[in-house]
This record gives sequence, structure tokens and C-alpha cells, in this order.
Amino acid sequence: MDRPLLNRRLAAFGTTIFAEMSALAVRTGAINLGQGFPDADGPEEVREAAVRALRDGRGNQYPPGPGVPELRTAVAAHQQRFYGHLGLGCDPDTEVLVTAGATEAIAAALLALLEPGDEVIALEPYYDSYAACIAMAGARRVPVTLRPSAETGRYHLDLDELRDAITGDTRLLLLNTPHNPTGTVLSRDELAAVAELAVEHGLLVVTDEVYEHLVFEGEHLPLASFPGMRERTVTIGSAGKTFSFTGWKVGWVTAPADLIGAVRSAKQFLTYVSAGPFQYAVAEALALPDSYFTALRDDLRAKRDILATGLADAGFGVFRPAGTYFITTDIRPLGETDGFAFCRSLPERAGVVAIPNAVFYDHQDEGAPFVRFAFCKSVSLLEEAASRLKRL
Ligand SMILES: Cc1ncc(COP(=O)(O)O)c(C=O)c1O
Repeated sequence: MDRPLLNRRLAAFGTTIFAEMSALAVRTGAINLGQGFPDADGPEEVREAAVRALRDGRGNQYPPGPGVPELRTAVAAHQQRFYGHLGLGCDPDTEVLVTAGATEAIAAALLALLEPGDEVIALEPYYDSYAACIAMAGARRVPVTLRPSAETGRYHLDLDELRDAITGDTRLLLLNTPHNPTGTVLSRDELAAVAELAVEHGLLVVTDEVYEHLVFEGEHLPLASFPGMRERTVTIGSAGKTFSFTGWKVGWVTAPADLIGAVRSAKQFLTYVSAGPFQYAVAEALALPDSYFTALRDDLRAKRDILATGLADAGFGVFRPAGTYFITTDIRPLGETDGFAFCRSLPERAGVVAIPNAVFYDHQDEGAPFVRFAFCKSVSLLEEAASRLKRL
């Protein structure tokens, strides 16, 4: 038994920093701004819809493989409502696939579309499951680093670096906008350039748009709406972020029928189906009036401002996010350079838990002085965190 139990592909992904930091939060009684989950549940009527579905016996047995028709129809209607003016739309029967959260959608898309040896370009820093899923598919990840600009106060995509990263082995671009952890919302020009490169090189694109409704500045533009993109793009959404029910794990994929068919082939052997009654509830949630989506955004914008101001007052360099519910900060103005050491000591020093951005990088040096805080928490908790951080 001298061979390790965990296979080579996953050896680097043994434990996540989130587990370590959440345990630290519990041990020290610190405020946990590490992991991105809201501290209050989503709308009561959506919760009631789940109870009703459960009681009425809808979804208590295996739902249909592609998802219940009510949810697929609601996903298509949501796309039409918010992006129809950009020319986007999808057929609920052939172009929508319901998944166990965005996490399964990412896994199924990558497992379906990649051959061992293919290269996948992903924007670094990246959501942690990307690297693991690319590895499980036996493919090779090629990071393209988003870098902060002191001038604009936001992270930018270097289009020359992206162009240079494309080789004959590149099969797929894995994009995320609005972007976790930097809070950047890719601009129309950035997305147009990405689209041009994808078309020019015949690449597939998987775009993770789970924060589509959490945009505080500018607007979210689905990559699939750019010229030449619809036929090559797999778009991923999730109810977790938009409706504050992260535990329900209801996500979806929209794409042309041939891509949906491929992703479904992998998905059917991962979970087959999931979250039956919750699918009906999310169908109702997606039909909530525009005022729900506006209020969600306004509420989070106010929370962003509370935490961003608190962090700036405490001496952090703050990249005010245009989207998502994360703020990336620079700890160098505090005289610190190592985000790992900083985050491990922060609970003792200031009673707050954060995540070192370096965990989201292949080039860990690039991420070393940056630290991420989540602001999807109550105003009182954020104010308390801001006040504690002044101890620094
Ligand atoms: C960028 C990104 N993609 C996907 C997910 C996972 O979404 P879900 O909970 O729907 O699986 C998250 C969750 O934090 C995320 O930040």
C-alpha cells in the first residue's frame, strides 16, 4: 500500500483553505467573511414554494434527467426577459439542462468536452473547482492572469496575454464574469475581444455567470450574446447566488442542443438528477418581478459600501467590486506581503476571517498580497467586522 490513495490528478486538491479558515472562525469566535454564503435565506415565498412542492409530492421521486419542464421553461423565460434584447433566447426542451448547482455544471461541461491533453485557458485567480475539474478531465489548465490597475481600481484582462496563451492544443476557454474573487465585471470590449479570439481559433467556451444579477456598476453581458458565440458557448447559472439558497444546489446550463447533449452525457453519470422539489421552487423564483432582482442588487451594493469603507479605514487597499459579493483587498498598505500568514493571524488579531487570494492562483506570487472578504452578510455583522478591523 505504498501507493497514495488519492490519485495523481487530485493529489494537489486534498483539502481546501475554506475548511481550514471556517474551523479557525469557529475556534476563535471570529466573524467568518471567508466563505461566500448569505447569512439570511432568500425570499419566504420561494421557501414556501419548496415546502408546497414537497408536500404535493412534486419532485420527491427522480425528476426528468434534463430537469423538470417548469424549471427549464422558467430558465428560458428568464433568459428572454433579461437578455432577449441582446438576441439571446433558448428552447426549454433542447437547450436547457438543470444541474446540481453550478458546481456540477462546471464538472459535467469539462468532463464532457475535454480529451486528455487538451488545454483549457482559465482566468486566474479562479474559482477553486475549475482547476480540480480540468484535472479530473485529464486536461491541462493554462492560466491567464487578471491584474489590478491602480488607475482604474479594478482587475483587467490582458488581451495580449490571452492571445499568446492560445496554442494548437487549446480546446476551451473557461470564463467567469462577474468574477470571483476579484469582483471584476468584464467590459463589453474585453468580452468582444474574447469572442473574436474564440471564433478565430474555433474554441469552445464555458462561461460561469452565476453572479449575473449581482452587478453594481455597469451591466452583465452574457458572452453567448456576442457575434459567433452562441453556437460555441456553454453558459452556467445558479439559483444559489441569485436567490440566496446556496444549500439547494440548483444550477443550470444553457447552450445549443448539441452542446447540451454532450454535457448531459456526463451529467447523467454524476448525479443523474437532484433537488427535485427545489427545482419547482426555483422555477417560481425565476419568475419573481424585476423589483426582486433590483432590491437584491441594491441591498448588496449597500453592504459592499459598508465593508469597502471599513476595509479602507482599516488601511487595506480596496478594489471596489463592480459585481459578486466579494471584495479583494491589498494588504501591502498594512505593511504585510503574505496573504496566507495574514489570514491565519487575522482571527486572533482582529476577530475576522478572510481568504488568501493566493489559493486561487497557479502563479501564487501574483496573488500573495491579496485577501478576499465576503459581504453577503447582515449589515450589523459587516459593521461589527469593520469596527474590529480597525484594531489593525
Ligand atoms: C464563480 C463560482 N462558480 C460556481 C460556484 C458554485 O455555485 P453552486 O453553489 O451553484 O454550485 C460558485 C460558488 O461560490 C462561484 O463563486
